[in-house]
Amino acid sequence: MYDFDTPALRTGTGAIKWDLRQSAFGNGDALPFWVADSDYMSPPEVVDALQEAAKNCVFGYTVPTKSYKDAVAGWVSRRHGWEIDTDWLVPSTGIVSELSNIVRCFTEPGDKVLIQTPVYDPFAGVVRDAGRTLVENRLLCGGDLRYTMDFEDLERKLAAGVKMMILCSPHNPVGRVWTREEVCRTAELCEEYGVLLVSDEIHWDILMPGRVHFSAGNAGTDGNVIVLCAPSKTFNVAGLKCSNDIIPDAGLREKLTKWKETLHVEGSNNLGMIACEAAYTHGERWCDEQNGYLWGNAELVRAVLAQRLPEVRVAPLEGTYLMWLDITKTGFGSRAVCEKLNRAGAILNDGYRYGDDGFVRLNIACPRAQLRAGLEVITACLAGELKR
Ligand SMILES: Cc1ncc(COP(=O)(O)O)c(C=O)c1O
Repeated sequence: MYDFDTPALRTGTGAIKWDLRQSAFGNGDALPFWVADSDYMSPPEVVDALQEAAKNCVFGYTVPTKSYKDAVAGWVSRRHGWEIDTDWLVPSTGIVSELSNIVRCFTEPGDKVLIQTPVYDPFAGVVRDAGRTLVENRLLCGGDLRYTMDFEDLERKLAAGVKMMILCSPHNPVGRVWTREEVCRTAELCEEYGVLLVSDEIHWDILMPGRVHFSAGNAGTDGNVIVLCAPSKTFNVAGLKCSNDIIPDAGLREKLTKWKETLHVEGSNNLGMIACEAAYTHGERWCDEQNGYLWGNAELVRAVLAQRLPEVRVAPLEGTYLMWLDITKTGFGSRAVCEKLNRAGAILNDGYRYGDDGFVRLNIACPRAQLRAGLEVITACLAGELKR
């Protein structure tokens, strides 16, 4: 069994989540549950590969090797049932920067780009900062807090001149793992209305029991889809800046590659690719065990809140390690709630930034003891507020 209980040493390492607590939230001692990385260590197989590489004492310019590309294709096939050609891979150094490249490459200033809110906030940022027009297709929140897509609204908006749709799959922050039907319908609508589908699947490996991820690349719309994936969330290697675009269509691939060349955006990170290859070659058991551990953490959150703070309800977690908590019954908006929690000693993300002020986001990718301590802070603080 792998060890997820031992905390990684992070304070003083430049870790955003830990070292920016004071400057960003005014409480350098608060327990951090914000930035989406993990507070336990990366798989030993990944660490060994990096240490082995360091023994070679050289870190020069590199391109993706055949064994690297085979490892990525093997992972995509084994874990996600999608058979890809290694020629379809375009290396990138992070999903958000690549989204920015993609938006600027395939759309013109003023063009409409659709996102499904509430959603990971940099989606809106890359669209707006590129001078494109943001179109929102809001997700529907069910009585059980399970979200679904509003296909009527989606179709209407796609038909009204949208050029690109950015799908978040699995979805951060609402925790949905979109079904095959949902993904196929989305992909087909995009194809029908000539809207390029860009699917951010960075969380695709982090699946709760019984959930199966269906990649947009598998929806049969090969000429109209770009899938973005990375080992960063799954194996806690986000700082190594290694991600992969999977682009089945040669025309789209060439256009993006040429665009990146004109910007002098260079391909890949040497150590990132070493970590990625090791993770995708040796990381299956670790990934499965991590999913089991995260599910245990999610159950702890549900149990503690149900018992001590039933006013705060939790959206069902199907995928990702990010839990979406409904705080509307506190009577405060998400920013006010987060400020109170910061002062009390727990840093969460306010839902306002994702497009829903009635929720906060809790990252549960940490040792269980840390989560338990955080839940003490959260329940004591918010229960106190509710009594006032
Ligand atoms: C949906 C989603 N996309 C992208 C990212 C960030 O990816 P990167 O660090 O590769 O830019 C995150 C991180 O939280 C995310 O949740």
